[in-house]
Amino acid sequence: LITDVRLRRILDSRGNPTVEAEVTTENGGFGRGAAPSGASTGEHEAIELPASEAIATARDHVVPRLEGEVYAADQRAVDGVLHAADGTENFSEIGANSAVAISMAAAKAAADELGLPLYQHLGGAFRGDQFPTPLGNVVGGGEHAEEATNIQEFLSAPVGAPSVTDAIFANAEVHDRISSILEERGIPCNKGDEGAWAPPIGDDEAFEVLEEATNEVGEEFGFEISFGLDMAAAEMYDADADEYVYEGESNRSTDEQIDYVVEMVEEYDLAYVEDPLDENDFEAFAELTDRVGDQTLICGDDLYVTNVERLQEGIDLGSSNSILIKPNQIGTLSDAVDAIELGAENGIESVVSHRSGETEDTTIAHLAVGAAAPYIKTGTVAGERTAKLNELIRIEESA
Ligand code: PGA
Ligand code: ZN
Repeated sequence: LITDVRLRRILDSRGNPTVEAEVTTENGGFGRGAAPSGASTGEHEAIELPASEAIATARDHVVPRLEGEVYAADQRAVDGVLHAADGTENFSEIGANSAVAISMAAAKAAADELGLPLYQHLGGAFRGDQFPTPLGNVVGGGEHAEEATNIQEFLSAPVGAPSVTDAIFANAEVHDRISSILEERGIPCNKGDEGAWAPPIGDDEAFEVLEEATNEVGEEFGFEISFGLDMAAAEMYDADADEYVYEGESNRSTDEQIDYVVEMVEEYDLAYVEDPLDENDFEAFAELTDRVGDQTLICGDDLYVTNVERLQEGIDLGSSNSILIKPNQIGTLSDAVDAIELGAENGIESVVSHRSGETEDTTIAHLAVGAAAPYIKTGTVAGERTAKLNELIRIEESA
């Protein structure tokens, strides 16, 4: 039984306040969870409130309904209380940041009480032994860095890696190799919010650099490393002009955007393309998936916002063959697992994901393993990213 729920403000990796929750149980279980925060947030995401406001409302409306009332191990009951206390469709009363922090803290308290690793508690007895392939953001711009690429993320995708651990070290090596290549080309650069290089170059040059780095490191490591993209195209889409805006290049109509993505998939043999089109254009997504869905993963992030109703629409229309899973987009672990399961039943591959603003919380590493997600996207080298990657290394060793 949950006996104590505490909430506080802590810092996220951008230096902004975020919500941390602690849950204690009668039998001495303890769990701590912290909410991440997006910068290129989807329009249909659950609502993040200012941390202090989210904490105050959760203290008033959620904590009394959990303490002495609900078992931490009954995740559906905990998450049901969060929904009931909030009473809206999108957590606009208590804040998805309070909701997800409490949901994750309760799961960890339950695992602690049961004496199980979190992934085992989340995955249950019939979990299987699939491990996620990590997609590593190595170059980027968009909303994550000024004066850098138009495309938000270029992702190293070590599809041939024999283990998660090999894949993690390969991504780090690709990140390192890219800095050498940029230096050779005389391109100085900073880093974006997730620790990816943020060079002042066009997307064309970034493709060249990625191809060179992934080929070299793939040869050195002895397995195939492809690469992919998060285009975060909702951020580029200008609804009034009905076109995708590219700084320093011509803009693209929806048809041109689809053709452009098809060309890139074919030219660079891309393993993965996230949000190539606007977050409300299920039809354009479907056309693209129809053209290249047998060659690559077309993933919906802002399109689906981890919401099963939006995912169902995408399934009905054939909009994608992959979904990004961000627990804070929907507010609870139960909702995130529902989206993974609906996807799996319909041949949609899940990519469990961090946010651009993160903490040391490692829940998503356990969620990806527990729910047998085929991919995880959690950066490459920054400390709040390596917290998850290093946890995956430990899980792989112990599982
Ligand atoms: P965000 O970006 O966390 O800033 O939304 C990550 C993504 O778009 O996948
Ligand atoms: Zn995205």
